[in-house]
Formats: sequence, C-alpha cells, structure tokens
Amino acid sequence: MKLIDGKQTATDIKKEIAAEVREMVAAGAKKPHLAAILVGHDGGSETYVAFKIKDCEEVGFKSSLIRFEDDVTEEQLLAKVNELNNDADVDGFIVQLPLPKHISEQKVIEAIDPKKDVDGFHPINVGRMVIGLPCFVSATPDGIVELLKRYNIETSGKDCVVVGRSNIVGRPMSVLMSQKAINATVTVAHSRTKDLEALCAKADILIAAIGIPEFIKGNMVKEGAVVIDVGTTRVKSDQTKSGFKLKGDVAFDEVAAKCSYITPVPGGVGPMTRVALLKNTLLAAKKEIYN
Ligand code: GUN
Repeated sequence: MKLIDGKQTATDIKKEIAAEVREMVAAGAKKPHLAAILVGHDGGSETYVAFKIKDCEEVGFKSSLIRFEDDVTEEQLLAKVNELNNDADVDGFIVQLPLPKHISEQKVIEAIDPKKDVDGFHPINVGRMVIGLPCFVSATPDGIVELLKRYNIETSGKDCVVVGRSNIVGRPMSVLMSQKAINATVTVAHSRTKDLEALCAKADILIAAIGIPEFIKGNMVKEGAVVIDVGTTRVKSDQTKSGFKLKGDVAFDEVAAKCSYITPVPGGVGPMTRVALLKNTLLAAKKEIYN
C-alpha cells in the first residue's frame, strides 16, 4: 500500500504558485487577491477561512476577510456580493458555507459573478464543467484529480465508484472522472443505492464522500483498489489542542491493508482542497478562464 501524501503535494504546488506570483509581480502585475465572506462564528467555518487566509499569505496573494454576524440579512449579504463583483481589485471571492437558515445559499451563490466564483459553485461554472468548457472547478474534486495525476494513477477504463452525490464533491467528482482526460467508468452511489457493499467492492477507484466517519470498511474494498477519502468529520478529542480531530469516511487500518493507494485523514484530500482554491484564484487573476 502506498500513502498518497496530500500535504506534501500541496506544499509542492504552493511553491509552484508562489514562484509564479513572484514572476507576475516582478513583471509589474498586481498580487492576486482573494476575498472571503464569513457569516457568524461556526467553529468549522472559522477554521477553514483562517486556513484560506493563511494559504494566501504563504503564496504571496493579497486576501481580505469580510465578516458578518449571524443576523445579517440576505439583502445585506447580496449587497456585499455585488460590491465584490464590481471591485476591480478583487480577482475572486468565496462566501463560506453553510449560511444561516434565513439566507438562501443558492441565491447567494447565483449572485456571485461566475468570473470571480473561485469556489466553482455557480451554475455557470458547474454547467461549463459538465460539458468540458474552461471553468472554475470546485476545490475538492479538482484537488483529487491533481493527486491522481501527480501519483500517475491509471484511470483510463477503470471502474470508479463515488459514494456521495453532494453538489460540491460527489456530483462534480463523478463528472470529472468520466471526462476524456480521465476516462473512468463511473457509478455514483448514495443513500438509496442497493447493495452498496458489493458495488464498492468492485471499484478500481473508490472515492468516499459521504460524511460518515469510517463508513467504508475493509470488506467494501477490492484488493489493489485506489481509495480516496474525502471525509473530514470533526469529532471531539482530548488528544488535540483544539479539542477536535478529523475523521475520514474510511476505516483506515483495515482498508489500507487491502488497497494499492490510500489518502490519509488528515493530510490527504484536505490540503489539496485548500490548494485548489489558490489555483483558481491565480487563474482568475491571470484571466485564464474568462477574459
Ligand atoms: N464549506 C465547506 N466547504 C466549503 C467550500 O469549499 N467553499 C465554501 N465557500 N464553503 C464551504
């Protein structure tokens, strides 16, 4: 079994991005600028946004954090989105999800200018991805594709099972895996799938994005399969400073004993997700997707 080291790969990519930013700035361009809107004080969201800002600093981007309290109105939030859409200094921005219940996430996502939608959540970007046009791809699927490429994992003609059909991971992941550059044969499994265990056990590439800790057990994995664990459930722990630790969707020890490659949690998909947002912001700054 080979461990897919997302942390090291992300570090390598961050160095590549930082070098490119240095060149751009030396040639007279402005630094790429990512803005993040954070509503409320959810512990997970606070952590994720803090990482995004730290990542920007590491690669030489400018970043802005815009905070609202939980009682912000949808109108106020949409006004800020509109302001960022029209701010020429901002290359890309994200609105951290989830949002409070009184705000429509879909409405907010659709208010973001697709040219600045570095999360790749706007239906224009999702639609362009589906038909293979240049677009911002959502960060987790993009990070996983990058890992498969950098580890030279054969995907052509392979049977891939994606467990989970969320808009930000499972569904876009399934589309990317079936595209011509990757050429896998894809099945999307979900809560109503019949005999999930047997289906997973036939996969050459198994991508677990279901959000249930240790859901994928050893008996659900074929000998020699490639296993990608997207799970990042925060569970209470007295072994860490933060009081939390991350649990993947895969029962690591029993699955690792059978597969050819596996991503750990933490240190697998997570760091690649973070780096994919930086990649999209750089693409936005260079106007490589849209002019
Ligand atoms: N919440 C959980 N993951 C994400 C993400 O990738 N982007 C945003 N905006 N919110 C999230």
